[in-house]
Amino acid sequence: MTVVFERLDEFGGAVLVRATFGQPESGLHPAELAWAESKPPRRRTELVAGRIAIRRALTEAGWTGDGPVLPNPQGRPSMPDGFTGSITHKDGVALAIASPLMGGRTLGVDSEVLGDRDRSAIAPKVLRPDELARWQADGSSWPSLLEIFSMKEAVYKALTPHVPRYIGFDECEIAPDGGITMFLAGGEGSFQLRGVSRWEGERLICVAEASVG
Ligand SMILES: CC(C)(COP(=O)(O)OP(=O)(O)OC[C@H]1O[C@@H](n2cnc3c(N)ncnc32)[C@H](O)[C@@H]1OP(=O)(O)O)[C@@H](O)C(=O)NCCC(=O)NCCS
Repeated sequence: MTVVFERLDEFGGAVLVRATFGQPESGLHPAELAWAESKPPRRRTELVAGRIAIRRALTEAGWTGDGPVLPNPQGRPSMPDGFTGSITHKDGVALAIASPLMGGRTLGVDSEVLGDRDRSAIAPKVLRPDELARWQADGSSWPSLLEIFSMKEAVYKALTPHVPRYIGFDECEIAPDGGITMFLAGGEGSFQLRGVSRWEGERLICVAEASVG
């Protein structure tokens, strides 16, 4: 397993860690290990890599604790007091982002891989009518759909600390300039949202932040 980190200037120096799937040298809390081992074997590798990544991200962000990072009932990783963080894993790599909680800002990360299959059939489930019309007018490309899909998942992860319920894809709109607008069915909010995405070859990484206001 290799574990590397970087600081994201666009998010006030938040730490982004990537950990390749594999045998960790050390670093998991026993309760995290027990949790991972309670899951089917095919899931364990990604769960372990995700925990290694979030623990490293938190540590680089200034966390000095040693407690476990376990999922809450919704599946969101429970962050230590004073920190925000998020996890994603896909195709052999886990990524995690963490930072101190500043002004209640929360972070979400998502990663997808282009792959060799065009899954554009998901468009009507992922896009609001306006988004669908724009995407079709722009040529219905799978990479551009994946960008919207992944950013919405990053937004979901950033927003669930504030809106602790399932948020449908139709409750979020990503504009061509990257602007994010929520249409929260429960009337929650309002929230300030911002997202940044980048491609690294076939891998897409999306980071979103959410704050109240
Ligand atoms: C939860 C969800 C976003 C996870 O995305 P995914 O592509 O399936 O999987 P990823 O590898 O990217 O992310 C998995 C991680 O998500 C995190 N996660 C799971 N549920 C979560 C929640 N409710 N809130 C925040 N993070 C959550 C966990 O950390 C999980 O990793 P772990 O089990 O190792 O801790 C997705 O399954 C989902 O339910 N999406 C529907 C909601 C949505 O995206 N709405 C968009 C409109 S805002």
